Amino acid sequence: MNQESSIIDPTGAAQRISALRQEISRHDRLYYVESNPEITDEEYDRLFAELRSLEQRFAHLVTADSPTQRVAGAVQASFATVQHRIPMLSLDNAFTDQDVLAFDQRVRSRLGQQAAIVYCAEPKLDGVAVNLLYESGNLIQGSTRGDGFHGEDITANVRTIAAIPLRLSGEDLPAAIEIRGEVLIFERDFERLNAQLEKAGQRGFVNPRNAASGSLRQLNPAITAQRPLRFFAYAIGACQGTLPETQFELLQLYRRWGLPTAPQVERLHGIEACLAYYRRMIALRDTMPFAMDGVVYKVDSLDSQRILGAISRAPRWAIAHKFAAEEAQTVVRNIWFSVGRSGTLTPVAQLEPVFVGGVTVSSATLHNMDELHRKDVRIGDRVVLRRAGDVIPEIVAVRLNTRPPQAEPIQEPKVCPVCGSAVIRLEGEVAMRCEGALSCPAQRQRAIAHFASREAMHIDGLGEKRIQLLLEKKVIEDVSDLYYLRCEDLVGLPGFARPAARRLVESIASSKATTLPRFLYALGIPMVGKATAESLAEHFRELPALMSATPTQLEHIRDIGPAVARHIGAFFQESHNRQIIQRLLDAGIHWPPPALPIGTLPLHGKRFVLTGSLDSMTRRQATDAIRRLGGDVGDSISPKTDFVVVGSDPGSKLERAKALGVATLDEHGFLDMVQHIHGHNMAEG
Ligand code: IVH
Repeated sequence: MNQESSIIDPTGAAQRISALRQEISRHDRLYYVESNPEITDEEYDRLFAELRSLEQRFAHLVTADSPTQRVAGAVQASFATVQHRIPMLSLDNAFTDQDVLAFDQRVRSRLGQQAAIVYCAEPKLDGVAVNLLYESGNLIQGSTRGDGFHGEDITANVRTIAAIPLRLSGEDLPAAIEIRGEVLIFERDFERLNAQLEKAGQRGFVNPRNAASGSLRQLNPAITAQRPLRFFAYAIGACQGTLPETQFELLQLYRRWGLPTAPQVERLHGIEACLAYYRRMIALRDTMPFAMDGVVYKVDSLDSQRILGAISRAPRWAIAHKFAAEEAQTVVRNIWFSVGRSGTLTPVAQLEPVFVGGVTVSSATLHNMDELHRKDVRIGDRVVLRRAGDVIPEIVAVRLNTRPPQAEPIQEPKVCPVCGSAVIRLEGEVAMRCEGALSCPAQRQRAIAHFASREAMHIDGLGEKRIQLLLEKKVIEDVSDLYYLRCEDLVGLPGFARPAARRLVESIASSKATTLPRFLYALGIPMVGKATAESLAEHFRELPALMSATPTQLEHIRDIGPAVARHIGAFFQESHNRQIIQRLLDAGIHWPPPALPIGTLPLHGKRFVLTGSLDSMTRRQATDAIRRLGGDVGDSISPKTDFVVVGSDPGSKLERAKALGVATLDEHGFLDMVQHIHGHNMAEG
């Protein structure tokens, strides 16, 4: 039933309005205090809309504590100053277990107590401290901590925070009470807020704490109202009324009044239990919805708290046990490129050493060029570094306002910083690779292991351990040195008695007899696996032909795309690689000659041009077939062309062929020719 339409008289309206307010406040409590909502956001919005519309019709029933009145008041010119009745204290910090034990010692000696102290342990929330004044249960004033004695009056803003009740629930409310706690923004809401701001062309906030502080100190409360601010109560200021005996019970009372308190609050016996709590909270840290920069231990008994009192700015009855800071600022000293075992280049920022997340960090990976350019990190930049848990340190932001004027964007390296070989970055790929696979010191251990592996050159007895040893002892520098090793070079190295040395030299020698595909695979050309090596060998038949092939020629081979073609081309162009290959061949590596010497291929010297489309094969397949038989395929017809293969819908090439008197073949004739020769070739081979 639509409740609204059935209400006509002011008495009915007043009842419904009151019921709606109670219902809304019950759902606020379920959501913010219990973290256990019963209804969806849409259902909540419907209740809210109904209340608003009733209040519009019966304006005299609107009260200041109605949830519809959270955003009220105009834009202010500045915030008024508020004097705190009781100063808002700060907390002493402990960074080590020793600090915490010393705190416990001080507490016990001041209280003259031998027995274990009961503590209330809570998360240390990383937001903005506020003071809320409630009189007879009504929210009267909200203020910031300021210098601890004077804060700013942010009542209008505080009223917009849905987690803060405008009226406390329950009986026996104190005549006046100052409730202190933290306003903060949950991580997930922070991400969403920043996305919204950036979409609207505004600057995002650096972290949730800044976002909370910035949102709370808006002169226009309507803006604050749009920010996803939360509140957790954790302390008390001045109070006229009776209070419970302990901090733990105080927090429970707050919850009954409808004020959210932080999760994971525990009452603990003795300081050792506090240290265990600290470790538990570190483990939970990443699962918490909000930022937490430590935990707080408070002497639980409020009487003991009064006895202990405070010194200067901090109470003697509490201490903050801080987590190692996860974020810190530092300066980028240099940016260099590290070369991985597989030849991938990774930009790395060398940093002014800084203590973050519990360790000293002096470098951070920038992952790849795209990432580097996206973050636009430059030498000399001041950056925000983050290291959470065991995660590798990461640069999360650059402080652009302090960038040195001469700082230049980082250029992509053209040569490998380790070996000087060319660096290739393929279109559409993020990774940059050094093409000196065989010679690059960064890659060679892995390159040699690959070279020696069973499916490559199959050198028995040459595993990674031995390769590492030979490299360390400088017995070899690259794969070609293997074939010049003598027993004497090995004897005496760990694990190399004379028989072992002899066995290795023999197995190296016997690997010399191989096949072209194995050899090509062994070279470790990026993206060239066994199947590609087979295709290359089949197509080029001889190594020199492959080594001088252009990327365009390579692309015409079955299964070879532009990326592989570029890697193959670049690999064979690299002079280090060519030298090593030459040394390998000089050492006697060999394979059976191709089935037919190249000069005797049946279509050797014949020039073909293709026009129109063939039914039985693609243009590339036709080109492959001609090339396999030694023929050449060109693009344009000249008097030197021997055959023009004419498919359906031929272009102007057919006219030109006729004009020049060049022989033409239709699809049938072409197939006859290649199949006939191929059969002949196979029979011979
Ligand atoms: S109690 C007299 N409890 O940390 C004690 N403070 O570094 C007053 N804070 O100004 C504060 N979590 O803004 C208390 N569970 C917690 C807290 C907490 C965060 C803040 C508070 C305080 C600051 C001191």
